[in-house]
Amino acid sequence: MWPLWDRVVRIIHWYFPVAIAFMWWSGEQGHYDWHSWVGYSLLVAAGTRILWGLVGSESARFRSFLSGPSAIISYLKGHPFTGEGHNPLGAWATVCLLLLVLVQGSTGLFASDDILFEAPLAFWGGHLSGPLAAWHEINWTILQGFILLHLLAIAFYHVVRGEGLIKAMWQGQTETRFSRSPPRSAWLGLGIAGCLAGLLYLLVTLAPEAPSYY
Ligand code: HEM
Ligand code: HEM
Repeated sequence: MWPLWDRVVRIIHWYFPVAIAFMWWSGEQGHYDWHSWVGYSLLVAAGTRILWGLVGSESARFRSFLSGPSAIISYLKGHPFTGEGHNPLGAWATVCLLLLVLVQGSTGLFASDDILFEAPLAFWGGHLSGPLAAWHEINWTILQGFILLHLLAIAFYHVVRGEGLIKAMWQGQTETRFSRSPPRSAWLGLGIAGCLAGLLYLLVTLAPEAPSYY
């Protein structure tokens, strides 16, 4: 009996609500230095989780929990889901949430507040920076919607179906929800995060800055 959600998945997952709440506050209040740093960390976190879905523990891999349209339709028709991990709909919601965080972070790299702050790729992006920065705002609305749906779905499982999903995501497993194969080393996850952080560092430091006229 092994954890269904390994340490890498859980650390990344619980970092999301904390960091995203901070991003909301700092974005609205205009604290863009902090907003950028925490934004970089979210980009690394979402990127690591996506790569972990390809090379990480068996139960964290996309191919082990993503299913096709027929499984989703059958689930929506009320056929009970008997697996341990994400249900067919929740599995695709996972992918959407991760991609939305990734897009939010990436478009932020091109944004500017038009007064004092310019993100590292704002100049380099040229004509594309404007639309990408606009997408930062639109994507935020979509991400908020998905987070709300995510929380409602979890509340539904708790209240209506009596399934404690939060316990499994917090502790890694429950009596009924566990993995049959051992997790991959969290060091691999840390290595992936380190490589992504290095690449992001190179990108934001090597990107050309706007010429100064002073
Ligand atoms: C606010 C930002 C949040 C984001 C972006 C987010 C994103 C995600 C993602 C991507 C997954 C899939 C996990 C994986 O396989 O990597 C997930 C699962 C889960 N999340 Fe969140 N989450 C957020 C907040 C929360 C909060 C506040 C709670 C609890 C109240 C929560 C409870 C859960 C649970 C229980 C699961 C497991 C669902 C299952 O068993 O299928 N999440 N979340
Ligand atoms: C997942 C990560 C991110 C989240 C959740 C996020 C969220 C937000 C939010 C909520 C706002 C306020 C939007 C509004 O006024 O409606 C904002 C604005 C902004 N963000 Fe982010 N952001 C992220 C990443 C980044 C990154 C990495 C950068 C730059 C390095 C960045 C730069 C900016 C800038 C410059 C603005 C102001 C845009 C304007 O005034 O039009 N963001 N962000």
